[in-house]
Amino acid sequence: MKKDPIVFALSSSKKLAATVAKTLGFELGKNEIERFSDGEIIVRCLSEVKDKEVYIIQSTSYPVSDKIFEILVFVDALKNKGAKDINLVIPYYGYSRQDRVAKEGEPVSAKMVASLYETVGIKKIITVDLHTPGITSFFTIPVINLEPAELYANFFKKKFFELGIDLKDIAVVTPDHGSINRAEQVNKYLKGSSVIYVEKIRPRPNESRVLSIKGDVFGKICLLVDDIIDTGGTINNVAEELINKGARSVFVVGTHAIFSKGPLSDRISYVAVTDTLEKEIDGVEVISIAGLISNAIKNA
Ligand code: R5P
Repeated sequence: MKKDPIVFALSSSKKLAATVAKTLGFELGKNEIERFSDGEIIVRCLSEVKDKEVYIIQSTSYPVSDKIFEILVFVDALKNKGAKDINLVIPYYGYSRQDRVAKEGEPVSAKMVASLYETVGIKKIITVDLHTPGITSFFTIPVINLEPAELYANFFKKKFFELGIDLKDIAVVTPDHGSINRAEQVNKYLKGSSVIYVEKIRPRPNESRVLSIKGDVFGKICLLVDDIIDTGGTINNVAEELINKGARSVFVVGTHAIFSKGPLSDRISYVAVTDTLEKEIDGVEVISIAGLISNAIKNA
């Protein structure tokens, strides 16, 4: 007889996993995580998993490598207790920005991490807004990359309506080449007036510079769409340029709220992020992706 699936949270996705389990009516498994004094991780599965289909939910950030290792050892713990199919929901895929050799001598860390997940025996991956969709090709197991563009468009349609903003005054902005498809998708669902393309360079990690803005933003309300907000440098710099070019205001939506540095620029009027990373930031609204993940598990 097929046994009911079970959802486990690891340390970075506790709220999200609880919501997903509740939405699906699945058991939320019990586990505990301890550490030896040198940082070595000990995980224990405290629920019955024999012959069950398991969904682990864990984002990999803060600190990235530890969160990955938690997954790897927890999969081993589940196998030891006889779990049948072990699936991984990884809302934020750490190391995704290292998806190619950008400078000679570098690894392709996003690919190496993919092989770790496969090697321990994960059957299927569900993830959200991968930095580059091409990362799915690093896997031989099925990978579902959930795209939140429609969710964002519906959220901002409501927000702009509440604020009395006409959609014809909205310009959707991509802060760099990598987010063109994101911005175009949001614009398509939102029925905004135009997409504005920004050329950005990154001289070194954690630093970025705007080279040019292609399109007219004068008098526009800009909606800047990005996958990751890390130092905030990208959105701060782009917002500054947009305002300098006559934009009326700048709204931002970012999927993965790393927020490793201080406050955002006062040129930004409004920021929304998702709960792929469970970070609470004053003045930043959260759009939950629990529904997207629950549907993906239900339909997988
Ligand atoms: C870069 O290619 C990404 O899409 C994001 O724009 C970037 O990671 C954001 O990082 P930061 O907030 O540090 O500028």
